Amino acid sequence: MKKVLVINASARGLRSQSRKLTEIFVEHWKSIYTHPQITYRELGSTEVPHVNEDWIAAAFKPEESRSETEKQSLKLSDTYIAELQDADIIVLASPMYNWSIPSALKAYIDQIVRVNKTFLFDASKMEYPYSGLLKNKVLYLLLSRGDQGYEKGGYNEHMNFQDPYLKTVFNVMGINQIRTISINGISYGPKKTQKPIELSHQELIEMIDLEVAQQ
Ligand SMILES: Cc1cc2nc3c(=O)[nH]c(=O)nc-3n(C[C@H](O)[C@H](O)[C@H](O)COP(=O)(O)O)c2cc1C
Repeated sequence: MKKVLVINASARGLRSQSRKLTEIFVEHWKSIYTHPQITYRELGSTEVPHVNEDWIAAAFKPEESRSETEKQSLKLSDTYIAELQDADIIVLASPMYNWSIPSALKAYIDQIVRVNKTFLFDASKMEYPYSGLLKNKVLYLLLSRGDQGYEKGGYNEHMNFQDPYLKTVFNVMGINQIRTISINGISYGPKKTQKPIELSHQELIEMIDLEVAQQ
C-alpha cells in the first residue's frame, strides 16, 4: 500500500481552507484503505528553523568531513528528507501569503532541497544542471487563496508565486507527477465561496478515486 505524507503549512487551525483539503484527503483515503499508512508533518503551527552558517557549511561537504556541530545542524533536515523519501504520496497544503507561500513552508523547503540528498547538481549541464533524487512519488498540492484569477491566463497570473514556485522546487527534486487543487477567492466571503469550496472538495475526491483506480 502507498504511504502518504501530509504536510500542513497554514498558520490557521480550524478556519483553514487548505487544512480542510488535507482532512478531506485523509478522510477519503481512510474510507478506501482499512489500514492506511499516513504520516503528518506540521509546519504552520511549529517553528521551522532557518538554515544557518553551520547548516550551509555541513550541507555542501561530504558527510565524513562534517564536525559534530555541523552534523547536528542537519539533523532536522535529515528527518524531513527521510519522511519524503519514505512517502509514495505527498499531500502538501499551502495558503497563498503575499502572493507566495508561508515563510514556514519556505524555511522547510530550504531544509529539504539538499545537494546529493534530494537532487544532484552537474555543473557541465549549464542549461539544467539538476537531477532529482526523489523518485516515483506523486505530489498533491492543495492550495487556498484570498483572491482569484491566479490560474494560467488569469488576470492575476503575474502575481502568482505560489504554485509555479512549488512546482519548480519539487520538479528539481524529481517529483513531476503533481496534482493541483485550489480554492480561490476566500476573501470574497462565504456567500460567493461556498459553492467553489464544495466543488474543490468534490474534485479532490474524484482525483483520489482516479489515483486509486490507476494503482
Ligand atoms: C498573511 C496573509 C497573507 C495573505 N496574502 C494573500 C495574497 O497575497 N493573495 C491572496 O490571494 N490571498 C492572500 N491571503 C489570503 C489567504 O491566501 C487565504 O485566506 C487562504 O484561505 C489562507 O489559507 P488557509 O485558509 O488554509 O489558512 C493572505 C492571508 C494571510 C493571512
